[in-house]
Amino acid sequence: MNNKITIAIDGFSSTGKSTIAKLIAKKYNFIYVDTGAMYRAVTLFAIENNFIGSDFFDSESLVSNLKNISLKFIFNEELGFAEMYLNGVNVEQEIRSLKVSQFVSKIAEISEVRKKLVLEQQKMGENDGVVMDGRDIGTVVFPNADLKLFMTASADKRATRRYKELIDRGDDVSFKDILFNVQERDRIDSTRKDSPLVMAEDAIEFDNSDMGINEQFERVCSLIDQKIAQIQ
Ligand code: DC
Repeated sequence: MNNKITIAIDGFSSTGKSTIAKLIAKKYNFIYVDTGAMYRAVTLFAIENNFIGSDFFDSESLVSNLKNISLKFIFNEELGFAEMYLNGVNVEQEIRSLKVSQFVSKIAEISEVRKKLVLEQQKMGENDGVVMDGRDIGTVVFPNADLKLFMTASADKRATRRYKELIDRGDDVSFKDILFNVQERDRIDSTRKDSPLVMAEDAIEFDNSDMGINEQFERVCSLIDQKIAQIQ
């Protein structure tokens, strides 16, 4: 039986897209691509090269250096998911920091950045059996995806989840800063000119503010199983 479909998961920041996507990838043996990690790695590159800081952004230098950015996902057997490598270096930890989160939406506004990353994403999803999460997967990267999900949750719930994740790994952050960052990214991601975060017309909306991970996963699996049955 061919169960190889393409699944696009979009939505606001910290809505648990990657948690669901990883579970789907494991159960159905699909490739998982966390496109946010790619935008985050470009942001880390920009910070490390002094192209962006709290009061400056030299987007021209970033754009002319895009050719020097190589991004790779390498599967970590122990963790059970692929980690992001920027120019050969594992940056999985660094790209999740609040500092990177604070600049990433500015980087994601740049059309040249988006063009490069979208092309790479489309290549990674050439063969079916892919679950990809991000902001523009169902609208731009794979407008013909077999199944499109759009995740939402209240900003407070999302900030609480993200705060816990960062505190658990030992980062020194305040809830107030995290909440502000979540809201600010929602604003920039939804209002940017190039590929703003919008729900695709044929996407299924999932508000998981009051839904545990098991319930969400069960619902999503039943949608996937229906799709797979349809294409047989
Ligand atoms: O999914 P995430 O929170 O790790 O994504 C980080 C940022 O990257 C997000 O705030 C906007 C940007 N992004 C994007 O513009 N398009 C995508 N497909 C994925 C992420």
